[in-house]
Amino acid sequence: MKNIIAANWKMHFDINEAQDVARKMAEIIDTTAIDTIVCANFIHLDRLNTIFQKTNIKLGAQNMYFEEKGAFTGETSPIMLKSVGCKYVILGHSERRHIFKEDDNLINKKTKSAIEHGFIPIVCVGETLDDRNSNKAFHVIENQLKNSLDGIDLRKVVIAYEPVWAIGTGVAADKKTIEEMHNFIRKIATDTPILYGGSVKPSNAEELASIDNVNGFLIGGASLVAEDFKDIIDKFIKTKGV
Ligand code: 13P
Repeated sequence: MKNIIAANWKMHFDINEAQDVARKMAEIIDTTAIDTIVCANFIHLDRLNTIFQKTNIKLGAQNMYFEEKGAFTGETSPIMLKSVGCKYVILGHSERRHIFKEDDNLINKKTKSAIEHGFIPIVCVGETLDDRNSNKAFHVIENQLKNSLDGIDLRKVVIAYEPVWAIGTGVAADKKTIEEMHNFIRKIATDTPILYGGSVKPSNAEELASIDNVNGFLIGGASLVAEDFKDIIDKFIKTKGV
């Protein structure tokens, strides 16, 4: 199973800040033991493509519309993303689902389009605290997977489990919770890398990497600092022994 560590820079950095962090990453991160991906804002991608060109860091977007072109003001197409060197695209991130009201049907269309255009989509799923407290976590994840990945060859995607209540809080989900959910997802997606996301940082990277069926991380806050991102990558590789 392929191991992947992806940065999700979300809506951070102007172009100069993005360039500085990307240059630092290009300088200090160089591994082929895992796939390293940086998912940046649309306006950063072209510049980052140049910076990462001769490195082992691959480029990803944080969203994508499913149509190739047309009257879709404010949207970004697979053709556009391909032209700036993107290989990956995050789809259905919890912030897209909750703030921008994306549903599984839309995420499904985007995922199909991404695959058709040669991308590897990183499809995110995750339950809210309410879902978990009312014992619906497994049901919610099963439904999100079933609906957003309907009709899709699961060997062509990456799944990211990001419990909404652990994102950006500084406190990751506990080991048992992650293990149970990743084992549950593994039964549905036997050959798909499953990433964990939600407050991954250098201080918990080893513990989280030690969990079975955690094939990598999707990292927000800690990926904004090149040294921290590298530290997490190094700890993951060492713990997994890859
Ligand atoms: P944090 O690592 O900041 O909790 O964000 C996780 C996330 O949403 C990555 O997609």
